[in-house]
Amino acid sequence: MTARSHQSGSGISFPAVLKRCSCVILTFFALVPSISAQTPAPEFLPLDSAQPVLQKIACTGSACPAANIGPVDWTAWLQKSDAQIRQRLDTGEEDSLTNLLRFGVTYTKEYRIDDEYLVLYGQSSLVNAFAENRADDLIKALAASNANQGFVEMRAFVEKKGYSLKTPADRAKLKAYLLANLARMQKEFLQLREQAKTNRSQEFEQRGISLDSNLWPDYDLDLTLQTLLDSGKLKPNSIRRVAIVGPGLDFVNKQEGVDYYPPQVTQPFAVLDTLFRLGLAKPDAVELYTFDISSRVNLHLDMARKNAAQDQPYTVQLPWYSDGRWTEDFRAKFTTYWQQLGSQIGKPVGPIPVPQGSPGFATRAVKIRPEIVARITPVDMNIVYQRLPLAPDQRFDLIIGTNIFLYYGGFEQALARVNMATMLKPGGYLLSNDKLEDAVPAGLEQATTTDIPMTTPPVITDHIYAYRRTP
Ligand SMILES: C[S@@+](CC[C@H](N)C(=O)[O-])C[C@H]1O[C@@H](n2cnc3c(N)ncnc32)[C@H](O)[C@@H]1O
Repeated sequence: MTARSHQSGSGISFPAVLKRCSCVILTFFALVPSISAQTPAPEFLPLDSAQPVLQKIACTGSACPAANIGPVDWTAWLQKSDAQIRQRLDTGEEDSLTNLLRFGVTYTKEYRIDDEYLVLYGQSSLVNAFAENRADDLIKALAASNANQGFVEMRAFVEKKGYSLKTPADRAKLKAYLLANLARMQKEFLQLREQAKTNRSQEFEQRGISLDSNLWPDYDLDLTLQTLLDSGKLKPNSIRRVAIVGPGLDFVNKQEGVDYYPPQVTQPFAVLDTLFRLGLAKPDAVELYTFDISSRVNLHLDMARKNAAQDQPYTVQLPWYSDGRWTEDFRAKFTTYWQQLGSQIGKPVGPIPVPQGSPGFATRAVKIRPEIVARITPVDMNIVYQRLPLAPDQRFDLIIGTNIFLYYGGFEQALARVNMATMLKPGGYLLSNDKLEDAVPAGLEQATTTDIPMTTPPVITDHIYAYRRTP
């Protein structure tokens, strides 16, 4: 089994983790931030570059390009397909809202709806009562004038969907919507359990796209980068330009209900911290780009950058579910990683305390220096269909994408692979915890795989696949 950081609503049994922080204003559905003058705008994948994929890999989606498609139709198809992928973010938000309903601890004292209870929803009056009470409490919390940022964003989301919190009748409609989402999640969970043999690197092909994020992939990347350095595949100070595809936005925890801190982005900071600690990059020379289709993610990072320009730091909360059923080896090594996380990019500060309803967590917080935050450039880009047209000296030394490609089938993964290969320098690395469809190599060769056993039986092992750009 493979570890997934998000399980956006699958509710798959896995001790979920970390949520983090910062301030985001409620520009939630506004335009994405503009990118700096030196950064070229993303371009759609040209038809000739996509041809090897079109010819070799079956498109299994509902709206596939016609055989022998011409350039004009190709552009129209790309635009339509890009819009379709972005629509999946809405279902992902519904999953986050449902995870908040199931696991949140800040707004209710009611029992959590774990996987066992999820399966019983609709059949057990007890579980139905938990769900009803949770829905009532959540609606009160969404309506509260002092709601935290995450709840404010969720309220904006339900209002965008046409729900209101004003009258009892409005709230009854919203409650029905929350419970219908819970029933949908139950159905998807049961389906996923049935499909035990599904290719796990494409496991969520049919699912809404979630923003959930946590720290395991960052630890896995840390191990992999250390291995690449130790084996001489990466040289000290060899990394200057880095891209993170799908950094995510950490807000609603799945299993343990860590919903007590504002939305935050952590992966770009954790990766920078590792690169500096290992001596692979220098703080004053590195540039990190993030590519994401979510305006929430992009605006959040844009705001952090603007704050950094005003000399304001960015604080991340780092809860670690140390009581999980981890292997002793993973618990010890992750704890060491977690204790030093942030040491290269900021300094420890007092964390927001973990609520009583979330036992088993250790936590800490790090205040990240503004000059580190300023190294990050968020770009609105769909990696399946778009790339940055970069001059050779602007290409990346390292591209990272964790818990993103499993939302796509082999055809889409192969297109994304073409886009990422184009943006990598010869000898540069792409790291992912999904094994990408590789029937069209696109100039990438698989270099190493790092296996990270994480939990005691049932054993969950995460893998990081390292792909190297051939000269
Ligand atoms: C589940 S989160 C993963 C967050 C983080 N990488 C981690 O492993 O914890 C998936 C992220 O990928 C982004 N994403 C999904 N499809 C994308 C695409 N085609 N292009 C760019 N970003 C995408 C989502 O918006 C979200 O931010």
